[in-house]
Amino acid sequence: MANSSTNSDDPPVSKEVPGKARNTSPLLADSGSSASSGGDSETFSLDDTMRDFPVHFDRTYHKYKAGSYPFPNDAQEVERMNEQFCLIRAAHEGKMFMADIKEPGNILDIGTGSGIWAISVADNIFPDAQITGIDLSPIQPHIVPPGVRFEQQDCSELDWCRPADSFDFIFSQCLMGSLKDYQQLLITARKYLVPGEGWMECCEVDNIPSCDDGTMPEDWPLKRWSEWMVYATEQGERPLRIAPFVKRWMIESGYVDVQEVVVKIPLGGWPALPRLKKLGKRFHTLVHDSLPAASYKTFNEVMKWDRAKIELFLASVREIYGRRPSADEERQMGRMAPPPPPSQRKAKT
Ligand SMILES: C[S@@+](CC[C@H](N)C(=O)[O-])C[C@H]1O[C@@H](n2cnc3c(N)ncnc32)[C@H](O)[C@@H]1O
Repeated sequence: MANSSTNSDDPPVSKEVPGKARNTSPLLADSGSSASSGGDSETFSLDDTMRDFPVHFDRTYHKYKAGSYPFPNDAQEVERMNEQFCLIRAAHEGKMFMADIKEPGNILDIGTGSGIWAISVADNIFPDAQITGIDLSPIQPHIVPPGVRFEQQDCSELDWCRPADSFDFIFSQCLMGSLKDYQQLLITARKYLVPGEGWMECCEVDNIPSCDDGTMPEDWPLKRWSEWMVYATEQGERPLRIAPFVKRWMIESGYVDVQEVVVKIPLGGWPALPRLKKLGKRFHTLVHDSLPAASYKTFNEVMKWDRAKIELFLASVREIYGRRPSADEERQMGRMAPPPPPSQRKAKT
């Protein structure tokens, strides 16, 4: 995978703010939590037991609310998240967000992951804002810009233990596959935004690849994998494909002046423009490198596929080349062949 910090078309992500010392992130309960309505949500101080993460398929996963989020939280995943952040920013021509936000006092980053968005916004755009990143996993850096803090919290709780009407900007990126009810998140977030002036922004990737000129084969392995993932995550009740619905959910949840900006990200090095060609190549690498992390728990827990079956399926998705097996080998492998895509499976039943 490309090193996200060394590419010239990446947005700046770690510039020091002159005259400001960097914080060590406390990961402490929010001091505003005394304003909580006493509901069911919690924020936590970080201690060693929280880093004692469960391991599945040689990857670590979040411990707090274990099992609710299907993707890993280890160093490899942090690197993947950072690369994903850089590619989304590059596709957005460096913009960290699209809403017209002016001098916010309080910002919340939901599902902050590696914390790269919160840190970048503090470093480069709003050095005086208080930016809180929340996540199930305490995997954010300890050395952060002044004003940035990270807390462990489940955003699907209805009470965020924070003062209502207090955030000027709530941002959330790539929560696809995370939540049973994404619209509920929008409804909850609304009550924590400053009335009349607070903005919510959601940035989600539509993971079903599409093609403008009709040249993508229906059975392209990556498309097939995406369809399986959409199917499996819907069965698991945490749908991956939410991007096409967020605008409607936002309007239905009572937001106004709702705008949707759709930016196409090339998948592969096919564009003629050098900037897009480079972006497409990096995005292709990112998607392929993401396949195991995205697949193991979902296909194992929801589809009950074992590791061998998942690996075989991923091999075809990754378009890896190899030798054709002998007749004997093919007979043996037949037992492990991946099932047909959802469309064919449905047609048979
Ligand atoms: C794909 S990562 C995206 C990280 C970051 N927003 C970015 O764009 O780089 C999704 C993150 O959401 C977090 N997450 C998932 N479910 C969550 C929940 N219920 N509450 C808080 N964070 C959650 C995961 O732990 C993970 O770090």
